[in-house]
Amino acid sequence: MTVAESHESDVRRFYSEDPGGEAAARAYHALMGDMWFHGDWSVQKAGGTAHEAKLAMLHRLARHARLEAGSRVLEFGSGYGGAAVELAATSGATIVGVSNTDSINRYARRLAAQHGMGERVSFKTIGDHDYKTFVDWQSETFDAVMFMESVCHLPNKHAFFTAAHRILKPGGRLVGLDWIHRPFGPHRTTEQISRLINPVCEYFRLADLGTLDSYAQMMKRAGFVVTHARDEFADELCLGSTEPSQAWRDYDGRSQDLIMAGKHSLDIARAAGVFTVGWWVAERS
Ligand SMILES: C[S@@+](CC[C@H](N)C(=O)[O-])C[C@H]1O[C@@H](n2cnc3c(N)ncnc32)[C@H](O)[C@@H]1O
Repeated sequence: MTVAESHESDVRRFYSEDPGGEAAARAYHALMGDMWFHGDWSVQKAGGTAHEAKLAMLHRLARHARLEAGSRVLEFGSGYGGAAVELAATSGATIVGVSNTDSINRYARRLAAQHGMGERVSFKTIGDHDYKTFVDWQSETFDAVMFMESVCHLPNKHAFFTAAHRILKPGGRLVGLDWIHRPFGPHRTTEQISRLINPVCEYFRLADLGTLDSYAQMMKRAGFVVTHARDEFADELCLGSTEPSQAWRDYDGRSQDLIMAGKHSLDIARAAGVFTVGWWVAERS
C-alpha cells in the first residue's frame, strides 16, 4: 500500500532516522540533547545554562498543567522523550508521548527504560493525520495535554485543539509552548514578516506559523477557557536556547546542509525579532 504524500508525511521523514529519512532527530540530539525546546528566558538571562532553563520551563508548564501523582498526561510531539521522562519522574504522573515518526519513539522508549520510567512513560507512534481526532483514545481520558514546540508542524492546528479538548477530562488542562511569529521593529506587514519566516518554515518543515493570538483563538474555538497566552520574549529578541554557532558548524551528520540552512534562516528571523516563542494555559470546561 502506498501512503499518500502530505505535509505531515514530509515532517515524519524529516525526523526519521530510518532509510529515506532526513534524520533531523539525530542532529537535534547532537545539538540539544534529549529536550528540544526553548527554556525559561529569565533563567538564561541570569546566567543559567540552556539545560537549567529548559528544566525551569518544563516545571513551569507542569505546574500550570497541575501534574501530580496519578495524573494521566498526553504529550503531543514528544521527540526523544527527555521531557516526558523528567515530568513523570518529578511529578509521579503517567505520560504517553506521541509522534508520527517511529524511530524517534524507539529512542524515547530506550531513554525511559534507562531512567527506570518504563512503567509510567510510554511512547506511541500515531498515523500522520491522527492528531486531528486522537482516534485511539476515548473522550475524557486525560488530566492534561501538553505540547512543546510540536504543534507548529501541523497544517490543521484547529483540528488538533478540538481533538485535545475531546480527550481531556472536564477541568483538564491544555498547556503548551511553541514557535510563533509577530511584528517587530520595522518588520510589520504580512509581506515583511513572511519574507523572514517562510524560509524557517521551509527548512524546519513547519506549517504556517501561528501567532500568540491565533493559538489562543483556536483554543477558544475548540471550547477552552484560555488563562495564559504569553510571549516568552515580549519586547525583546528571542535569543534563548540558541546553541553556539560552533556546535552547528561542527555537526557533520546526515542532512548537514539542510540543518545548517535551517539554522541560518532561524538566526535571521531571530535577529529581526519576528520569530519568538509563546506559551499558553487553557482549561477544558
Ligand atoms: C521539535 S520536536 C518537539 C520536541 C519535543 N517536544 C521535546 O520535548 O524535545 C516536534 C515533534 O512533533 C512531532 N510531530 C510533528 N508532526 C506530527 C504529527 N503529524 N503527528 C504526530 N507527531 C508529530 C515530531 O515527531 C516531534 O516529536
